[in-house]
Amino acid sequence: MSQTTTHVSGFTKLIDAENERFRETHPRSYDLATQTAKSLLNGVPMSWMTHWATPFPIFMDRASGARLWDVDSNEYVDFCLGDTGAMAGHSPRATVEAMNRQAASGITGMLATADAIAVGEELGRRFGLPKWQIVMTATDANRYVLRLARHITGRPKVLVFNWCYHGTVDETLAVLDDDGRIARRPGVVGPTQAPSETTRVVEFNDVAALERELAHGDVACVITEPALTNIGIIPPEPRFHEALRELTRAAGALLIIDETHTMCAGPGGMTAELALAPDLLVVGKSIGGGMPVAAYGMTEEVARAASPAVEEPDQNISGIGGTLSGNALAVAAVRATLANSLRAEDYARTIPLAARWTEGVRSVIDEMGLPWSVTQLGCRAEYWPATGRRTAADAAKMSDEEATTYLHLHAINRNVLLAPFHNMALMCPATSEADVDLHTNVFREGLRNVAAVR
Ligand SMILES: Cc1ncc(COP(=O)(O)O)c(C=O)c1O
Repeated sequence: MSQTTTHVSGFTKLIDAENERFRETHPRSYDLATQTAKSLLNGVPMSWMTHWATPFPIFMDRASGARLWDVDSNEYVDFCLGDTGAMAGHSPRATVEAMNRQAASGITGMLATADAIAVGEELGRRFGLPKWQIVMTATDANRYVLRLARHITGRPKVLVFNWCYHGTVDETLAVLDDDGRIARRPGVVGPTQAPSETTRVVEFNDVAALERELAHGDVACVITEPALTNIGIIPPEPRFHEALRELTRAAGALLIIDETHTMCAGPGGMTAELALAPDLLVVGKSIGGGMPVAAYGMTEEVARAASPAVEEPDQNISGIGGTLSGNALAVAAVRATLANSLRAEDYARTIPLAARWTEGVRSVIDEMGLPWSVTQLGCRAEYWPATGRRTAADAAKMSDEEATTYLHLHAINRNVLLAPFHNMALMCPATSEADVDLHTNVFREGLRNVAAVR
């Protein structure tokens, strides 16, 4: 028998055993999946809910703090936390109370509520930008800020970093192919406009390439996370952010920082941690405690430049907000969440937990002498089946679907949820050291099994 055949069959056996165990412990989820398959595309309200490592989707019963229970009464330590939406923990009490109060007295009215004062001021305090808009999702917010940047600069193009993710915004779904040409990101559905017409793409941390691409003079804005978090975690190199700010200013391009995931770094995200000075900033997912809501902020200069447009009588179709943007329920959720969660004292608890998780994973990788790595960013951490990656292009080539899918499924069967599409764990204030150590032990067993069949 050839080596490859042995390896494939070893893996297949491992996966089969986990699938079998999953089926035995999830009969009610199976039953519900059979029923939803009749009326929902891909059998779920959103098709990526099937993209977990399980043979059929898990149906959630309820979640609270760092725990999630499925309809078969399996209890999980949840390190996915809604892929950041539940960074404050599931259903934080103050947010739920505020939402209950607001829901009982009007959910949406196309009018501001007094909560907006506290929300605008608190966002300003955290991120250092004076003017804000509240919208539904980070994807929406990113679309709106790109539009504003083009409006203000009169330029057509957006510059993004290779393998970035800013939601389903067409211009940002672009990567560099092996020949360095701009290509549509693999997996994107539908024939969008050729990304090279809308977008310039360079590697994160590559200052020379950034300078070269900005020199074309057609870039309205650079949009980036302060550290990339959607291709593993790629931190900024020293002085990268200074160069980014200087070069964008010199080129007359606006700088947009997307803090949606990097809110893991602290109450004002990495913008506050690193004293960044963006022209526009987007933050979504976590700020409403799980309620779908996001915000974008801007400097006085950007606000002044945007004002004539937003004061136009036809502003309702200006493309920088939607009917439900800033609805009373969402604003109440943000006010309560920012007043009671995601504060310095919360990060003082969650960041050491992420350090413990990282150390646990690193110790297992070291014990086994595997060429894997693990990176912590605030209260978030992620492992990657490779070492030595410097660029996102390197990281994209170094994935190991087989091993990581197995590890996710193996963990789920042992009551641990990691974020799907990532190997990411997020800590909330309700996460305990025992939860973290459970993950370390489960990861050790899973990785040993992987090593045994390789
Ligand atoms: C950095 C970043 N920005 C924006 C988004 C889009 O968020 P949403 O899907 O809530 O619109 C994501 C989603 O993962 C993200 O990672």
